[in-house]
Amino acid sequence: MSGKFKAVKISESVYWVGAIDWAVRYFHGYSTKNGTTYNAYLIMADKVTLIDGVKHGFENELLERVASVIDPEKIDYVVSNHSEPDHSGGLPEIIKAVRPEKVFASKNGVKALSAHFGDMGVTAVDDGGELSLGNRTLKFMETRMLHWPDSMFSYLVEEQVLFSQDAFGMHYASSERFDTEIPWQTLFENSLEYYANIITLYSSFVQGLFKKVKTSGLTFKVVAPDHGPVWSDMDNFAKVLGLYERWSSRKTSRKAVIVYDTMWHATEAMARHIEDGLNSTGVSVKVLPLQSASRSDVATEMLEATAVIVGTPTLNNNLFPSVADALTYIKGLKFQTPFAGAFGSFGWSGEGVPQIRAYLADMGCEIVGEVSAKYAPDEVVKVKCFELGVEIGRKIINTIN
Ligand code: FEO
Repeated sequence: MSGKFKAVKISESVYWVGAIDWAVRYFHGYSTKNGTTYNAYLIMADKVTLIDGVKHGFENELLERVASVIDPEKIDYVVSNHSEPDHSGGLPEIIKAVRPEKVFASKNGVKALSAHFGDMGVTAVDDGGELSLGNRTLKFMETRMLHWPDSMFSYLVEEQVLFSQDAFGMHYASSERFDTEIPWQTLFENSLEYYANIITLYSSFVQGLFKKVKTSGLTFKVVAPDHGPVWSDMDNFAKVLGLYERWSSRKTSRKAVIVYDTMWHATEAMARHIEDGLNSTGVSVKVLPLQSASRSDVATEMLEATAVIVGTPTLNNNLFPSVADALTYIKGLKFQTPFAGAFGSFGWSGEGVPQIRAYLADMGCEIVGEVSAKYAPDEVVKVKCFELGVEIGRKIINTIN
């Protein structure tokens, strides 16, 4: 036995040859508290084919896993389904080591890979096009803006394996390679977080993709994404598809999210009275203090929320940096949250709350109300906070049956 990394067989001729990143906690702003995997797949067809690469720094792990099955120099083709550097960053070194006959990507993938790494002689494949691997066939389907312009799926026809790049993935490092080895609740929570932080903005494209896949008539036995476990139980995968349908429909539930930071606990006290008011109406409330919740946590909780209420102290004539950070992040993801409120404490100038209001209006929310407190909230302000919670709670109930 060698001490080298091994491949894991996922279907008759396909092996997982990716890398596990237990350490990563920052993924372009997304707090990946469970780490991630960079999945790549080796198809042992007549034309030996590698699907996707890994992040730069993990090339040797991939090459060792390949070597546990076949000499890496025997790889004939490399297919890049997605050019984001967590999958393509290792490609220049992998291509140098493997010297494949050809590298394939979508038309936009060719441009993106060239922009990142210079001309690597990549061949463009057509949407709906096929590539013969001898005794196997790969079929390509462009999935533009899911979630980059270059993104595409590859489908191994004879074994009904879908290589879905980022779609249906999750940032979840584990020694388990298959969904069947992981509890459903873990799969659900990590899929939800991933969808909220990576896919939300492209929800209309998800809806379009469902139509495209249905029209294609493709059926799946294995779905192999570029992050997290391989879906080998199609009942589990059907549940994830159902979740993607629901999340991409932008339906919200009877839920409110309170997001705030606090300087000397005054804004925190206001948050708790708003929470109390919301609770009295029977809606579900999630409170996210930004000294312990990340911007990714906020995005995850926002996905199905019908209201967001944001609080900040005024610091140096501005809203708090952590609040500006969270607002910038959720504004970019374009959550369609119908109702909002703003609150916060100030000492002398009080610009924080109006700045929040401007952000929330920009996000298209109806601003139901706002409450400000000079220094600490007195009884009058506490009642106003409670009443704001009640008003928003009633609006949620009247909107969501
Ligand atoms: Fe996993 Fe869009 O990269």
